[in-house]
Amino acid sequence: MATLSRSLVDVAEQVSAGRPAPDLSALADRLSGSAILKIAAEVRALQAAGQPVLNLTVGDFSPKEFPIPAALAQACVRAFETGQTNYPPSDGVPELRAAIARLYERELGLRYPLESIIVQSGGRPGIYAAYLTLVDPGEAVLYPLPSWNNNYYCQLVGARAIEVPTDAANGFMPTAEALAPHIGAARLVVINTPVNPTGTVMPAEQLRAICDLILEENHRRARRGARGLYLLFDQIYWMLTFGAARHVTPVEVAPEMAAWTIMVDGISKSFAATGLRVGWTIAPPDVAQPIRDIIAHAGAWAPKPVQVATAELLDDAEAVHEYHQQMKTEAQRRLDALYQGFQAMRAAGLPVDCLAPQGAIYLSARLDLLGRSFDGRSFTSNDDIRRFVLEQAGFAVVPFDAFGFQGEPGWVRLSVGAVSLADIESGLQRLHRALERVR
Ligand SMILES: Cc1ncc(COP(=O)(O)O)c(C=O)c1O
Repeated sequence: MATLSRSLVDVAEQVSAGRPAPDLSALADRLSGSAILKIAAEVRALQAAGQPVLNLTVGDFSPKEFPIPAALAQACVRAFETGQTNYPPSDGVPELRAAIARLYERELGLRYPLESIIVQSGGRPGIYAAYLTLVDPGEAVLYPLPSWNNNYYCQLVGARAIEVPTDAANGFMPTAEALAPHIGAARLVVINTPVNPTGTVMPAEQLRAICDLILEENHRRARRGARGLYLLFDQIYWMLTFGAARHVTPVEVAPEMAAWTIMVDGISKSFAATGLRVGWTIAPPDVAQPIRDIIAHAGAWAPKPVQVATAELLDDAEAVHEYHQQMKTEAQRRLDALYQGFQAMRAAGLPVDCLAPQGAIYLSARLDLLGRSFDGRSFTSNDDIRRFVLEQAGFAVVPFDAFGFQGEPGWVRLSVGAVSLADIESGLQRLHRALERVR
């Protein structure tokens, strides 16, 4: 290629010289950046400065601690080698959509037609497309707190958020009673289980009660010809449950919910494959159609080689089962180590608490330091507490504030996807020593 001689334009200089601060869209003005990513940047800075940090902040996996299934990696390589590198169909390659249908039939007892299943690049575009499909600006979206990112999706579509706080005593689960006063105003209810950030799992009877509430409301709306009420059910962690916790879907507990339920799912968490970007949305066919169009226009489809590989993996029930035996054991060991560490500190009289892990890769822990002090400075906010454990113990957590929760202070999310058991042990020791110095 012939090299043209060009003069260099310094873009930053040109922009700042060219005009005052930009006048952007109302959407750009109301949108806020991710609170969790800001905390993660602070943690990276400390690590870069050489301080030992137990990084429990990111909802991600270290491939060293949690590799993807070998069968998936091998199938990806084969898909590249066989030239699966052009555009996929915009709603996903047929073999993956069919494999998802078979997975749901086999594992969840749900039979969906293929036109209900749309593949996209991870779970997020499915959530966004579902919001865009169902919610007009000014309409209300009802969801419990703490919650992952529903505030941002409301900002994106201009929806009014109705946020219902939960509490530790109820495993941070929303109850039908708590949602009931708001149900009449809502266009969309959003439920996520197993829950990010709490690591708890919604019991079947509680989900059943919420579904009954939605169905009763829809019967009332049908009588007066009003717009229906939908449920966006985010089950991206459904394959990761521990012990007696069992994941159930709205359609399983109340089959009539099939007409009103949109499910979001993907391989990001269940197969530690956050960087591979394969997710899917499952909706009644008439709701799936506009979701399909939005994903197509946004170009938010999943990489074709990974789609082809994921189809092979999902159809290999044995490989899926074996992988989960190993992966869940590793996740649970880490969660149990944190749980036991917190219980031991509590038994030693330190002001902490935690909930038993049930699912996902998270543990709810409480650092009950508000009103106490360290080195003569008192803790006045959850962020003071977060900074204290980060700076004094290299123990990096995300307060529930980052998930919109303003209830009982001191609750934080501990995420175990990127840490080893040895890291956890030394982090707990540092935390124990730091807490002993709190007055
Ligand atoms: C509750 C929940 N839903 C959906 C997602 C989206 O996952 P992804 O877009 O990475 O597939 C996440 C990711 O953190 C999540 O925690």
